[in-house]
Amino acid sequence: MDRKGLILVKIGGNTLSKLSLFLSFIKTLYELGYDFVLLHGGGNEINSWMEKLGFEPKFVKGRRITDENTLKIVEMVLSGDIQGKVISEVKKAGLKVLGLNGKSIFKCKKLIIDNIDLGYVGEVVEVDVLPIRRLLEERYVVVTTSLGMDESGVSYNINADSAALALGISLKVDRLIFCTDVPGVILREDDKDKVLNKLSIEEAKKLIEEEKVFGGMIPKLESAIRAIENGVKTVQIWGGVDFSRAWNMEEGTLVYKAL
Ligand SMILES: Nc1ncnc2c1ncn2[C@@H]1O[C@H](COP(=O)(O)OP(=O)(O)OP(=O)(O)O)[C@@H](O)[C@H]1O
Ligand SMILES: [Mg+2]
Repeated sequence: MDRKGLILVKIGGNTLSKLSLFLSFIKTLYELGYDFVLLHGGGNEINSWMEKLGFEPKFVKGRRITDENTLKIVEMVLSGDIQGKVISEVKKAGLKVLGLNGKSIFKCKKLIIDNIDLGYVGEVVEVDVLPIRRLLEERYVVVTTSLGMDESGVSYNINADSAALALGISLKVDRLIFCTDVPGVILREDDKDKVLNKLSIEEAKKLIEEEKVFGGMIPKLESAIRAIENGVKTVQIWGGVDFSRAWNMEEGTLVYKAL
């Protein structure tokens, strides 16, 4: 079969419940010759488990402060719970699937932002893409978590959008779609929320500088900008239910480089 391209889909925290809907169209694309890698976050589930266990989730610029207990919960939720759910959805859709613990592909180091110690939060320094390439050759849909490890075996929590960026660049994906719980990047104008259908990287940088985006949208937009700057042709932020509408760019925000 002619291979048409490699697509990386980042599954955000609460889009998991919509995954089965996305997968019917993803299967259509797969059958046309597109290959897929799915990388999942789990922000909302991690928060709710932290609260159940008596811990308070804390963030700096949209990144989770990760102490030892938090890391344990992050690992349990991502590897123990969410990945299994993603795998079973992909299987139910009738596709071949293999799940990877991000630790086996993401080599990272401790991330420091603004001199703040975020704990076990990692920044990717290298991605081992070989196992993924092999699996894609065999036409597996590859599912991975956003966990990582440094040279000495210390585990890290990587913001899933940052992990998707590193993976997208290393795999030279053709398209990166961030599926999230909002329809796209939203701007408030004249007391009305407007979803931007296009956003240049220059405008995106301005939105971050002017603090018009907050929380998890900061690392997401930063990752989208860097993906474009590093050669990913198509980058979208989307939060609908019908994946074909994202694919055809009828919904969501397309981040682009102005000529
Ligand atoms: N201008 C903006 N437009 C849209 N969303 C925004 C904006 N500013 C901040 N946000 C927030 O960003 C959030 C999306 O990021 P968030 O990290 O919460 O989810 P995710 O990245 O999809 O999931 P996960 O972190 O679990 O991988 C939205 O729910 C919204 O509250
Ligand atoms: Mg996020």
